[in-house]
Amino acid sequence: MSLQSFAAADEDEMIALGERIAALLPRRAIVWLIGNLGAGKTTLTKGIVKGLGAADPAEVSSPTFTLIQEYGDPVRVYHIDLYRLEQPRELATLGLDEIFDREAVVLIEWADKFARWLPEDRFTIAIEADGDGRRITFQSP
Ligand SMILES: Nc1ncnc2c1ncn2[C@@H]1O[C@H](COP(=O)(O)OP(=O)(O)O)[C@@H](O)[C@H]1O
Ligand SMILES: [Mg+2]
Repeated sequence: MSLQSFAAADEDEMIALGERIAALLPRRAIVWLIGNLGAGKTTLTKGIVKGLGAADPAEVSSPTFTLIQEYGDPVRVYHIDLYRLEQPRELATLGLDEIFDREAVVLIEWADKFARWLPEDRFTIAIEADGDGRRITFQSP
């Protein structure tokens, strides 16, 4: 296990950090994005998607309602948001096992809500407010 800590003062720095983090990830990875509403999980995702060459940040939108967004052709990144899910059985309808089998980076907002039902082998990115900016920790399996 390794832990790295970063700071990002604004949205642009957050996207730049996402690009740096993208370079730390293997092609196939499950990444938990942990942080309150408005922490910057989707913003960091924009940078990771950009860093992986899957799409431009402007094309990345929150999967709050779609639950799953895909980026790249072939798909390199899945961006999932479990905020609206209430029951573990709803998780089963998403087809996550099939997604986890693909050679792709799978970013999951609110994964901690369903920790027991998700694979243990994962990266964890935690985001906390720090003044007007954010402190980000990146943990490898
Ligand atoms: N490092 C940062 N510093 C300051 N504001 C940020 C930072 N990262 C993102 N934001 C801002 O925080 C707000 C919420 O970001 P968002 O990524 O949608 O959060 P989440 O997905 O965690 O709910 C946006 O207005 C975004 O511009
Ligand atoms: Mg979000």
